[in-house]
Amino acid sequence: MYLKSLYAKNFRNFKTLKLDLEPGINLILGDNGVGKTNLVEIVYFLSTFGSFRTPNDDDLVRFGESYFIISGMYGDVKVEVRYADKKKVLVNKVKQERLSNAFSTIPVIALTSSDLEIVDGAPVRRRRFMNIGISMYKRPYIDILSLYSRALKQRNSLLKHATTGKEISGIEIWEKQLAMNASPIVTARKDYINRLLHYAVPVFYSLTGQDIEIAYKEGADYENLMEQFKQMRKKEIERGYTLYGPHRDDIIFKTKGHSAKVSASFGIKRLITIALRIAQARMLTQIRGEEPILILDEMIGELDKEKLELLSDLLMDYEQVLIATTREDLQERGDYNIYRIEERDGAPFIRKGAETIHSI
Ligand SMILES: Nc1ncnc2c1ncn2[C@@H]1O[C@H](COP(=O)(O)OP(=O)(O)OP(=O)(O)O)[C@@H](O)[C@H]1O
Ligand SMILES: [Mg+2]
Repeated sequence: MYLKSLYAKNFRNFKTLKLDLEPGINLILGDNGVGKTNLVEIVYFLSTFGSFRTPNDDDLVRFGESYFIISGMYGDVKVEVRYADKKKVLVNKVKQERLSNAFSTIPVIALTSSDLEIVDGAPVRRRRFMNIGISMYKRPYIDILSLYSRALKQRNSLLKHATTGKEISGIEIWEKQLAMNASPIVTARKDYINRLLHYAVPVFYSLTGQDIEIAYKEGADYENLMEQFKQMRKKEIERGYTLYGPHRDDIIFKTKGHSAKVSASFGIKRLITIALRIAQARMLTQIRGEEPILILDEMIGELDKEKLELLSDLLMDYEQVLIATTREDLQERGDYNIYRIEERDGAPFIRKGAETIHSI
């Protein structure tokens, strides 16, 4: 299935947008700052109910407005998000009480420049990569994560206000909750990394001729988490937060036997990121039995000719790919659907092929 159409009102620089999309490769071209990323951000938001650029939904509301509405037709399924202070998600016009139930109804894998942080950034970025990846095929995971986060917040608050040597009343309740939910989180993540490795190794090899290792790094001794809490209480009170648990886990990427974060070149880090996203897409196709929509926001612009060729071959497998780029020369590579965004009088215009689709 593919995304047939998009609608947006007051989303970023779009006042109103109605756009038909096609299967195959859709090239979204335009100068810097015209709204290419904004357009693919709509598609990503319809899948994950969050942006890849900001944790703050208010940033997505067009300046001077108080709400946005976006929707997309994925086959016969309509997903709509309405935002005004709160987020409301509707699938085929039915309001979703739990966002987790509708997560990834439109399966989307996005490769964006902020993804370089998966290799280069803080551990939280890698945990988010896993959390979103798992949630795309295991929705209960989202609920377990939020139970864990709630208990963590409560325990941290108790630790912050505690005095060393004194009983902390009520802390065991939260410790039990943490221990109970840590185990399915860690199991799901390890399983995820093992599966991902299976897909990432051949993709990375085909792009670079090199091997990659991906390992899960545990942030605690999960056999005895309760015991560990007891033993480390003093240290945790000093710090004022929980030092052990899946909120401290990490992923280690290695190339040539060394940590990629520390030793790999910038180009290799970029190719690891690309390989991870392609691997995620392949894995999701296998598990869900449907191909995700692939989004590439820039990222490919700086690849050399040979790598671009290799990546183009990998993209051919997918029913629908959206590529946002300033690189005009990409359109010469094949029979792509071209969307051109231009700015006129401060507002974006979109041309699809030769026709003007959208004007304000
Ligand atoms: N909430 C908002 N309301 C109105 N306009 C916004 C909002 N947020 C961002 N913009 C505008 O969107 C434009 C940037 O759009 P976008 O990031 O999609 O550009 P782009 O085409 O991807 O550019 P680049 O090639 O540099 O990546 C800027 O002009 C910015 O002012
Ligand atoms: Mg952009």
